[in-house]
Amino acid sequence: MSGKSHYGLLKGKKGIIFGPLDESSIGWQIALHAYREGAQIAISNIAMAIRLGNLQQLADACGNAPVLVCDASRNEDVDACFKELKETFGPVDFIVHSIGMSQNIRKQVPYEDLNYEWFMRTLDVSGISFHRLVAYALKNEAINDGASIVALSYIASQRNYWTYSDMGDAKSLLESIARSFGPRLAKRAIRINTISQSPTYTKAGSGIPGFEKMYDYGELMSPLGNATAEECAEYTMTILSDLTRKVTMQNLFHDGGYSSMGATIPMIKLAHEVLHDKDLAQRVDLDEFYPSR
Ligand SMILES: NC(=O)c1ccc[n+]([C@@H]2O[C@H](COP(=O)([O-])OP(=O)(O)OC[C@H]3O[C@@H](n4cnc5c(N)ncnc54)[C@H](O)[C@@H]3O)[C@@H](O)[C@H]2O)c1
Repeated sequence: MSGKSHYGLLKGKKGIIFGPLDESSIGWQIALHAYREGAQIAISNIAMAIRLGNLQQLADACGNAPVLVCDASRNEDVDACFKELKETFGPVDFIVHSIGMSQNIRKQVPYEDLNYEWFMRTLDVSGISFHRLVAYALKNEAINDGASIVALSYIASQRNYWTYSDMGDAKSLLESIARSFGPRLAKRAIRINTISQSPTYTKAGSGIPGFEKMYDYGELMSPLGNATAEECAEYTMTILSDLTRKVTMQNLFHDGGYSSMGATIPMIKLAHEVLHDKDLAQRVDLDEFYPSR
């Protein structure tokens, strides 16, 4: 990364990034890149993540960035966070929501048996928190005209991914919140988008059952291959910059082309081999998934 070019895309801007945990986090890479693109940044996470993660290291690497403790599912925390931000740092030109969590996934509860309290928590932490961040930034006048707001999403918001469970529902909500806010924020030339990222090896990502298989599948189905967290951060810089002033209410795929593919030759070959090789077919156990055929 250090050898790469920077373009000063965010020179003179201030922003806050919610959700960096460790070096693998997408939010971590976004923070580093935003700083290197010339922004002054603040970072935020829940108290436990600040204790367990290594946020001070990130803060040091980003010009002594303020670290704000905030549980994005609590109104009073988010309100206090934007009050403090405005007083000590000033109003921001960008907000990044890089937050996700599902206890149902963590505990491997089948979708048919979701624990509804946890389901509500998934929706709250991973979806409604996006609304809360925007609402309290506005209420506290902690966001400037012409700002850019971004949240990280995943294609399971629109297509079925069995093991992504209730996080798929939360991502649908997240993307919808961006659309609902869009025209309201446009009055102040503020734009709001979601970036739909490839499977990425992070703490949240690797917690999904069968993640490595989804990752490999993504790799075979994407003409450009899966996008890394660092590449996601690079793309995010353009969305936070003034170069994308008229981009709003979009779900922007950053996935190596995955979302537009129907089939790839490697996947077709593999499927053909599996279906016509008895041993392989038994290993995959097609009967388990298609018993009615
Ligand atoms: N990793 C992937 O494969 C992938 C793919 C597409 C989208 N995303 C999305 O990217 C975003 C960042 O996730 P990541 O993969 O970098 O994992 P990560 O585990 O590094 O980041 C998730 C963050 O959410 C924070 N968080 C959890 N509950 C919170 C709360 N109540 N308030 C504030 N913060 C809270 C965690 O502390 C953590 O820092 C998430 O929205 C995730 O769904 C990830």
